[in-house]
Amino acid sequence: PVDQSVDLAGVRLKNPIVVASGTFGFGREYGQFYDLSELGGICAKGLTLHRREGNPPPRIAETPMGILNSVGLQNPGVDAFIEHELPELRKHDLVVIANISGNTPEEYGIMCEKLSEAGVDMIEVNISCPNVKAGGLAYGTKPELAAEVTRVAKEHATVPVMVKLSPNVTDVTEIARAVADAGADALSLINTLRGMRIDVNTRRPILKMNTGGLSGPAVLPVAVRMVWEVANAVDLPILGMGGVAKGEDAAQLMLAGASAVAVGTACFADPYAPIRVRDGLAQIACAQGLDKVSDLTGGVRPW
Ligand code: DOR
Repeated sequence: PVDQSVDLAGVRLKNPIVVASGTFGFGREYGQFYDLSELGGICAKGLTLHRREGNPPPRIAETPMGILNSVGLQNPGVDAFIEHELPELRKHDLVVIANISGNTPEEYGIMCEKLSEAGVDMIEVNISCPNVKAGGLAYGTKPELAAEVTRVAKEHATVPVMVKLSPNVTDVTEIARAVADAGADALSLINTLRGMRIDVNTRRPILKMNTGGLSGPAVLPVAVRMVWEVANAVDLPILGMGGVAKGEDAAQLMLAGASAVAVGTACFADPYAPIRVRDGLAQIACAQGLDKVSDLTGGVRPW
């Protein structure tokens, strides 16, 4: 059997499969399907300093090739997560990654301090939410702001800081370099790709916010391309994600340069998707005669 363990910025995962932020909530509801210890890790639903209701509905629109969301960071706030959710997650053997968004760099700093002290394994600094005005995408599309948030997060965190990048940019390597120079320990990509759907009969956008972030099968090739570009530009470990639903999808992201892979939208149709991806990936590594799944990372060959 192939060795499935991987290292992500010094954090060991028993296998490279993580559930993406926003898809397993805080893990609670999924314990009924299988033991969360089957997973390499969980990125918890995005947190803010104070609780948020999120954006007005409708805020989910399905399309044939993915889901548009404009949720707007609905969450109970970082303190409630630490008090009520983290202890539950800790009953399982998996890496716990907290995803955070702030209105200011200072808010990121405060959350990094609280979450480090509470004992999460890693912090995913979200600078790429397409659905909020303050913070969010504003930080993820400008190299100086992305760097500033990263610096403040690093100053206040005692666990590895992974910065989540946006696909809604022309040159992702510019942002990746700025974030790397500011001290990030790892990068995760991609967040959702801005999109829109219109109801032809009412002539109104389906989403109350008009636009949302697209996830699911449609974005996999975008994710593979961006992971590959970033892996070639900076020397940081990458958590790759975007439309992963089977082992082959995860293998593509790893060959492009990812050290681990997150499964997101596929979880909505099938909570077992991460398990299927994990086993399919191990099978591919095995069939290629590898001893370790981690040997896939960066293994894409030049033409
Ligand atoms: O697509 C997304 N939706 N990306 C995020 O980072 C946050 C989330 C939301 O809550 O809107």
